Order: sequence, then structure tokens, then C-alpha cells
Amino acid sequence: MSRSAPPRSIRLRRSVLSVPAINRRALEKTHALDCDAVIFDLEDSVAPEKKAEARENLKAFWSGPPLEGRERIIRINAPSSEFGNADLDLVLALEPDAVLLPKVGEPQDVTDVMDRLSDADAAEELRIWAMIETPRGILNAAAIAEAGRTPGSRLDCFVVGLNDLRKDTGVLPEPGRTYLVPWLMQVIMAVRAYGLDAIDSVYNDFKDMAGLNAECGQGRAMGFDGKMLIHPGQIETANRHFGPDEHALAEAQAIIAAFADPAAANLNVVNMDGRMVERLHLVQAEGLVHKARLIAERQI
Ligand code: COA
Ligand code: MG
Repeated sequence: MSRSAPPRSIRLRRSVLSVPAINRRALEKTHALDCDAVIFDLEDSVAPEKKAEARENLKAFWSGPPLEGRERIIRINAPSSEFGNADLDLVLALEPDAVLLPKVGEPQDVTDVMDRLSDADAAEELRIWAMIETPRGILNAAAIAEAGRTPGSRLDCFVVGLNDLRKDTGVLPEPGRTYLVPWLMQVIMAVRAYGLDAIDSVYNDFKDMAGLNAECGQGRAMGFDGKMLIHPGQIETANRHFGPDEHALAEAQAIIAAFADPAAANLNVVNMDGRMVERLHLVQAEGLVHKARLIAERQI
């Protein structure tokens, strides 16, 4: 039996902007922003006494012009919290592309919501995203990702939350994220084993473009699909790092051309200018070219 991860459908998730649902002005701004996805946050950016107002804001926003060309994700409060039911009801009513669950620590945190959505006959397209941001979330990342392998599962993407993780572990913020890298790579391994996407954590200092640039480069090198953002000024940097650059695109096209040569029809490895290229690189190359096409065709 094949144990490899199921093929992933390729989505553009380079820049995933969080917008506090309490901030009507910021909500309206999203229409003009060049991010790939928007997280409408009902959780930690909204004070407890403002949760109901934030939900009303989202209802009003949804009744306006649709947010074209971007994935829409609603981050809810913990389903077990006093806000959980009202938040999930709102998700069922608004039908975003995904619901983002905070502080997921066990597979059951995901499967419980899967069951609730199915019981409520939620649209099949409604996906579940999970914040991995607690010690248990990191330790159980593989088991949680495996919950996404069951038939009909809605689990689609992990988002790492380092602010919570630093708070819970005592790891200090520092450039390079030295002591966090092993945990970040554990998340990458879990998503790759089970065919999910992974979004890197936010960079808090939104005026520090050099710092953001370095961290996006690091996140891309680690294998993340994109970065969660907190400010519109961060979008361009994330799009640049997590989109295919010209050099990578040219290389991918050369690999596709090399395998398209009839002489390579029955070969699994070819010589490309003194370098071995395997058929497995062809899959990667096709994915990259597909991503570039999605970016080119995007209309915002
Ligand atoms: N989404 C959409 N628009 C945003 C935005 C966001 N996340 N953050 C800022 N803006 C808008 C502001 O409304 C402002 O618009 P204006 O000039 O028309 O008034 C413009 O961008 C410039 O904002 P700026 O003055 O630089 O920052 P600010 O003081 O308004 O906001 C934060 C700073 C950090 C409070 C804000 O960026 C924010 O709330 N970010 C998201 C926080 C979040 O979601 N946290 C939870 C996940 S970690
Ligand atoms: Mg958090």
C-alpha cells in the first residue's frame, strides 16, 4: 500500500492577511489589497466584550460586494469557549472558504468541528484550517494532520502561531528563530506527510521590512507555502518570497522541456547541462509553473 502523501491541489497562499473583525475600516480595505487570502479574526484581536459586535461586522461585510479572488477564512474562538457556538453559527451562515480553529492541540479538536459541520449540512467546500500554536499542538502535529486523511475530511491547512507558542514555552523572540526552527520543521514534516499546506507565523514588527524580508526568506527555505500577515505593508514582501521567482521559473520550464523531448520518453533521469534531473523534479517543476500561471491569471 502506498504510504506517500495524497497529491495536494495547488493553491495560492503566499500572503494570508489577518484582519480583526472588530475593525470595520480595515475590513473594507481588504477589497483593494493584493493578498491571496484574508483571515477575518474573531479570536485574539477582538476583546471579549466586543465579540458580538465583531460578528455583526462580518455579517455586514458579507452582505456587501464579494471579496473576489481571495480565500476567505474566519478565525473563530475555541469551540468550547463561551463564544464558540455563536462563532460556528456565523460560519455556517456566511459560508467562507474555511474556518480557522485556534490553539488546536489534539486531533479531536478538528474532528469535533468536522462532525459539527457535517451535522449542520455545511457545504462540502467549507474547509478547516488549524492554528498550531501550543506545545501540545506541536507535539501532536502529525496526529492532527492525520485527522485530515479521513474520507470527507475538511482539514486543509496549518497556520503556525509563534506569539502563543513563545508565551507558552518561554522561548524569547530573536532574529533567526534559532530555538523555534525544530518545531517549525516538525510542522512542515506533518503537513507534507498528510498533504496539507502550512503557513508561517506573523512577523509582529510591521515597520521592520528588513526583518520581515529575512523571515519570509527563511520561511520559504523551510518549505512553508506562505506567511500569515498583520499589516497591508507586509503583503508585497510575502508575495515575492513565496511566489516562484524568475530564475526558479526558467529552471522549471527547462526541466519540463527536457522531459518533453521524445528521447526522454522512457527515461527517469536526464542530463541537464551536467546536472542530473529526475522525473520527480518534473512534478515539482509542473507545480511551480502552475503556481506562476495562477498568479498571472489572478484578477484583483
Ligand atoms: N488589514 C487591513 N487593513 C489594515 C490592517 C489589516 N490587518 N492593518 C492596518 N490596516 C490599515 C489601517 O486601517 C490603516 O488604514 P487608513 O490609513 O485608511 O486608516 C492603514 O492600513 C495603515 O495602518 P497603520 O496606521 O500603519 O496601522 P494601525 O495602527 O491602523 O494598525 C495594527 C496596526 C497592528 C493594530 C493593525 O495592523 C492590526 O490590527 N493588524 C492585525 C492584527 C491581528 O489580526 N492580530 C491577530 C493575528 S496575530
Ligand atoms: Mg494565537
